[in-house]
Order: sequence, then structure tokens, then C-alpha cells
Amino acid sequence: MQNSHALTLNAVNSFYGDSHILRDVSFSVTAGRVLALLGRNGAGKTTCMNTIAGLMKPRSGHVSVFGRSIEGFSPEAICQAGVALVPQGRRIFKSLSVTENLVVARRRPAPTGRVVWDNEDIFKLFPRLQERRSHPAGRLSGGEQQMLAIGRALMTNPTVLLMDEPTEGLAPQIVAEVGRIIGQLRESGLSIVLVEQHTNFALRIADDVVIISTGEIVAHGSAAEVIHDSSLLNNHLGVH
Ligand SMILES: Nc1ncnc2c1ncn2[C@@H]1O[C@H](COP(=O)(O)OP(=O)(O)OP(=O)(O)O)[C@@H](O)[C@H]1O
Ligand SMILES: [Mg+2]
Repeated sequence: MQNSHALTLNAVNSFYGDSHILRDVSFSVTAGRVLALLGRNGAGKTTCMNTIAGLMKPRSGHVSVFGRSIEGFSPEAICQAGVALVPQGRRIFKSLSVTENLVVARRRPAPTGRVVWDNEDIFKLFPRLQERRSHPAGRLSGGEQQMLAIGRALMTNPTVLLMDEPTEGLAPQIVAEVGRIIGQLRESGLSIVLVEQHTNFALRIADDVVIISTGEIVAHGSAAEVIHDSSLLNNHLGVH
């Protein structure tokens, strides 16, 4: 059913110059669920996120959000359509304060019954950020910077949240905290794509899983199915 799909990619091909990276990538994210996009280094996960967010134009194929095509949309228009990216490496403004980082990410609220986020809502979700609201973001810990990056994405009032390796470089305790937050965001109704190299973490959290290998989707199933498919995990993710 079209309406139950928050995000659909249909035969998407993306290139860097002559390098053909995404090869006929197709998958859908069911509304209100977390889909983990897994793959080794260089498999094309970030290219896929950037293509959805409009930072790269696909050479062919289609992307739609709740059944509405976003073909040819600018990154800003894709954001207005409800898609927010938490970029790999966080990309916060290090010299701005925590509050300033949130304020500059704010967008006009979207009309269609979306959850509308403001600074105070972000601070409720991340009390540690509230304590550090006036600090330059560059002085936060890695985990706090990741929380700020998530907060910045939420300030755009998304319906679809793309998270590109949100646990990269974080201590286990903070990874668990990020996992708890993702669960809460799903409860609030968000549809989430979680890009991860921490396979076990992702399989614990996600409802559905897509595996990408050298730009091609090689598996698509429920997390419960994939978690027991050791040859799949071994062949494509190097998990033993
Ligand atoms: N700006 C670029 N110009 C040319 N090739 C690029 C560029 N960025 C990435 N690539 C290539 O595209 C392929 C996919 O890269 P991508 O960053 O999407 O992988 P990834 O799955 O996100 O990897 P990682 O887990 O390391 O983040 C890789 O072969 C990479 O070398
Ligand atoms: Mg990447």
C-alpha cells in the first residue's frame, strides 16, 4: 500500500563523475518503523542518504515521500517535504552555542499535523544539552555533539529522519543512549532510516533491514529474519 510507505526509492542510480555508485537501488520504509541500512565501508550508504536528501542528484530513478515524488527538488524543498538528515560526522557549527545551532536549523512548521519541535522540546529530550545551552558546540563531548546533530534535524519538523552513523566514535554507554532516543522518536511516529556499521546495535533497534554492497541492495527483510541469517551477515557485513 502506497500510503503506508514513508519513503520509497525506485531504481535509483547515483554517480560521482564517471563512478557509478548506487546501482538500481530500490527499497521502502514503512511509516512509523526504523529501517537499518547496513553495509561495509564504501558500500554507498552515505551516497544513498545524500541522494535522498537532495545533496546529490540521482542520474535516474525516483524517490518519493509518503507517495509524493521529490524528483528535482532542492535540498531545502526536500526538507520542507519532511525529510531531515543527521549527517555522518555530525556537521554542527562548532563556534556557535548549542541554542544557536538549534535556532539556525529551525524551519517554518509544516502544515500537515506534524510534530513541531522547538528548543525546549529538544532540551526535554536531551537534558545534557540544556545544561550546556550557552556553550560553544565545539566544546561538547562527542556524544553531546551527536545529540545536538539529532536535535538540529528535529528542528526541521521531519516525518522521515535519516541518521547516518549516529553512533560512530561513541562510547558504549552513549551508543545505548542514542538507541533509547531512536526508540522514543519511533514512538512519536517518526519513520527512520538508520545507517550503521554497528550491526548488532542496528539489528536490536531496527524493524526492517536493507543491506547494500558495492552500491547494490543485496538483502531486504525484517530484522528478525536477518539477525538469524549468519551467512548473509558474514558475506556482506563481515559479522561472524
Ligand atoms: N566525493 C566523492 N567523489 C568520488 N567518489 C566518492 C566520493 N564520496 C564517496 N565516493 C566513493 O563512493 C563510494 C561510496 O561511498 P559512501 O561514502 O557512500 O560509502 P559509505 O557506505 O557511506 O561508507 P562509510 O561506511 O565509510 O561511511 C566509495 O567507493 C567512495 O570511495
Ligand atoms: Mg558513510
